[in-house]
Amino acid sequence: MSGEGDKPARTLRSQAWFGRQDKMGFYYRSFLKNRGIPQDQFEGKPVIGICNTWSELNPCNSHFRTIAEHVRYGVLEAGGFPLEFPVSSLGEVTMRPTAMLYRNLAAMDVEEAIRAHPLDGVVLLMGCDKTTPALLMGAASADLPTIGVSGGPQLRGVYRGQMIGSGTNIISMSEQLRAGEITLHEFHEAEAAMNRSSGHCMTMGTASTMASLVEALGVGLPQNAAIPAADARRNELARMAGRRIVRMVEEDLVLSKILVREAFENAIRTLGAIGGSTNAVVHLLAIARRVGIELSLADFDALGRGVHCVVDLMPSGRFLMEDFYYAGGLPVVLRALGEAGLLHKDAPTVNGRSLWENVRDAECWNREVITPLETPFKPESGMAILRGNLAPDGAVIKPSAASPELMQHTGRAVVFETIEDLHARKDDEDLDIDASCIMVLKNCGPRGYPGMAEVGNMPIPKKLLRQGVRDMIRISDARMSGTAYGTVVLHVAPEAAAGGPLALVRNGDLITLDVAARRLHLHVEPAELEARRAAWTPPPPAADRGYVKMYIDHVQQADQGADLDFLVGRSGAPVPRDNH
Ligand code: FES
Repeated sequence: MSGEGDKPARTLRSQAWFGRQDKMGFYYRSFLKNRGIPQDQFEGKPVIGICNTWSELNPCNSHFRTIAEHVRYGVLEAGGFPLEFPVSSLGEVTMRPTAMLYRNLAAMDVEEAIRAHPLDGVVLLMGCDKTTPALLMGAASADLPTIGVSGGPQLRGVYRGQMIGSGTNIISMSEQLRAGEITLHEFHEAEAAMNRSSGHCMTMGTASTMASLVEALGVGLPQNAAIPAADARRNELARMAGRRIVRMVEEDLVLSKILVREAFENAIRTLGAIGGSTNAVVHLLAIARRVGIELSLADFDALGRGVHCVVDLMPSGRFLMEDFYYAGGLPVVLRALGEAGLLHKDAPTVNGRSLWENVRDAECWNREVITPLETPFKPESGMAILRGNLAPDGAVIKPSAASPELMQHTGRAVVFETIEDLHARKDDEDLDIDASCIMVLKNCGPRGYPGMAEVGNMPIPKKLLRQGVRDMIRISDARMSGTAYGTVVLHVAPEAAAGGPLALVRNGDLITLDVAARRLHLHVEPAELEARRAAWTPPPPAADRGYVKMYIDHVQQADQGADLDFLVGRSGAPVPRDNH
């Protein structure tokens, strides 16, 4: 490969495999020639890995063979040599107990696949919730030139003339079915109407949040966030990514040059401006720590202040990702942040331009969908980070999803020791609970419910629902779905299963939530807490072998990104020694 000007030509990493004129070179080239690849493809072309999470078990990514083809066209057009490879795919609705249990496993798969193979650059194909952080984490630790391409959201759901978003009305319709108010045929009809095209969830849930953050981090091309999967322009974006990654290899624009601290700060503010998922907090922490950036929960609190949500999207608003794209997409939001002084304008992006150069001319075509920052859809939409004797290492609440009247409240704890305990007792007519109580759920953190399930938005007990109660304070070490809502304190750290103070809460204890003061306090004297701690025994581990045991033994707490301790950081992409 020729260098620019008088710069010496850089040696491609892939030439350690394909550039050898010996026994091993024969092996490396010869076996790939079984597909009819000509010799000239091995002679100095940048080899681009297309890291594909296609899977029929992950419906959100089931169109990725098509996306990969368009990346391949782009790589070929730019003079590269594309090689597609599969990695674990994590289907949010299909995997049990929770796809999050496998995020770190998939990240390990991605990292090692990149490092083990003759690749010079990588295009990451990601869509469903956990596929995005998993691929970014793995690729960050390998640190080759990398572009992220999201698969795009589904088209709007439409049922009987009504626009419906991913997840909308599932609970109410299943209740209606149980009550005989709708037929099974209607139920099935609604299923088909909600998910009527390829793509991931089309509300501003975790998948759309993460696709937006890929763009805000500078890892994706402009408009990565919102072009629907079914829109031809999604394929065009994939093709342009294929072209661009070849140039990035020539420029040695590795991922760690994009994932700088300013990029993460931009992503945190973007998270507030799009009213994004609380899950993004855990994922951004984990990605940052892969590249050695000490992002902390305090950064989310500090940077999120003064950021307002400007997108009127479900689950909290009216519109869907398709509408967001037609209104101008994420560049409009980023431009607004930049004009308000809330963006690091010089942050680099994969197309070689700064983030500001990419978005400064963005125009909005629908001010109902993307509101001006001065008249936001929801004010103060950044995450609030709570601390106190109940969460010494922090807890997360999304104030814009909470009830204002509960933001400062002291209530009596009603404790559920496990998720099974919650399921067994929540609708018990004899449960001693009223609307002023605080529901506490233990043992659902990274270690306790391996994978930190999305169960933090506990259902309101039926007897309170009948009284018209629609929200209560709920506290746990769990996560919640990006499409969920309520006054829900999540990610309490340390978690109960790790011996955090959450494990010591008992029925009847008083707890104070004060969001303005960022405080979460358990009104129990230190001596009493110590006595309870002495009597506490950790729950038995959920597994004694295999990956789940390794996960339990090594997973970090939510405030550190819930990564495995030995995966934090990066090793880069040194060429492994050959096997002869
Ligand atoms: Fe895949 Fe929602 S289930 S993004």
